[in-house]
Amino acid sequence: MAPHDRSMVSAGLEGIVAASTRLSLVDGERGELIIAGYSVGELAEHATFEETTWLLWHGDLPSSAQLEAFRSELTAARVLSPATAALLRECAQARLDPMDALRAAAGTISLQTNAAAGIVACMPTIVATYWRLRNGQEPITPRRDLGHAASFLYLLNGQMPDLEQVRGLETYLNTVVDHGLNASTFTARVITSTGSDLVSAVVGAIGALKGPLHGGAPGPALDMVFEIGDASRAEAFLRKKIEAGEKLMGFGHRVYKVRDPRADVLAKAAERMYTRAGDMSLYTLARTVETTALQLLEEYKPGRRLQTNVEFYTALLLHGLGLEVPLFTPTFAISRVSGWIAHALEQQRANRIIRPQSEYVGPLARRWVPLAERSNPVSV
Ligand code: ACO
Repeated sequence: MAPHDRSMVSAGLEGIVAASTRLSLVDGERGELIIAGYSVGELAEHATFEETTWLLWHGDLPSSAQLEAFRSELTAARVLSPATAALLRECAQARLDPMDALRAAAGTISLQTNAAAGIVACMPTIVATYWRLRNGQEPITPRRDLGHAASFLYLLNGQMPDLEQVRGLETYLNTVVDHGLNASTFTARVITSTGSDLVSAVVGAIGALKGPLHGGAPGPALDMVFEIGDASRAEAFLRKKIEAGEKLMGFGHRVYKVRDPRADVLAKAAERMYTRAGDMSLYTLARTVETTALQLLEEYKPGRRLQTNVEFYTALLLHGLGLEVPLFTPTFAISRVSGWIAHALEQQRANRIIRPQSEYVGPLARRWVPLAERSNPVSV
């Protein structure tokens, strides 16, 4: 690329195809998400998270013998090393945000393993252990008779979850497991492309997921619904936010220009959860907030085609499962780690280091000025 050729720069890499993948197809115009050949709705509703993870890593659903062996492998790797547990205690004393604690503790998984299944197995234990410690409770030892989703709920609450709760969480985990070359997955692929290891790829991806423009949106989305509190306040509240130049969390997407198909899958699961609990008030309010937000986004940002994204209904579903807001993004990571690893393995199989170029826009032909002769340098 010639220096200063601005036409070649794609801010945010928008529209750039940087990898071929067999893992997921995101069709932003048709509002479709296919995961390893299955529509997200079909997979989310039927699969266990172990089956979805196997599918991504091996290309096909497991046989019952394979699934049994994989479950056992995950179960055996759930217990954290003493060093990881001790670090989480320190993180809790420092009152770290759960995503910061997860990032810090994920790096210590190397003490136990660098294997894909081991990493996936540790993630829910890290999140639940940290959550309990931060709330002044002692961590719970993982049981060997629970599946991945049930185990997470048990480790968080110390109670056996019922089947509906497990199905609700499983639906969520399956829905967000993989999504093309999103920012955290791209991060994982970039790290892997240098020949680095899986734990490093996962730690980097956790850092990318944490940001409010990516995986950090569901908490603020739910906070917004709570702050609105009553359907009659929705329009005035949202207008004020948009007019102040703020983004409405849970809306807009780089790829989807129609409704994010994951929003429907999660909305359906959330509706089941709230119907079962016998209180639809929050669900109904959220629906009104969504409709109003979409109308106002069309009014203020015509032609930008801003639609509901996955995070809006993530918030509602996870709240319905009894998870508190700071757990939303870590729970996203518990799912997406299987996708990150699938992409890392795919990258390893046909690797070429990911190394784009940059456009230099700084000064040229400067002359060295000795320290004594410099006056009030402008720092950049
Ligand atoms: N609320 C209000 N305006 C918005 C929103 C929103 N949620 N999203 C985009 N816009 C506006 C922008 O201000 C911009 O307006 P302009 O053209 O007048 O300047 C226009 O729509 C285009 O938006 P960009 O920010 O350029 O779109 P981009 O593709 O870069 O960003 C993103 C996509 C980051 C998801 C954005 O829509 C956003 O910040 N949404 C809110 C945060 C969120 O929900 N994130 C979760 C995404 S899903 C996920 O990562 C799992």
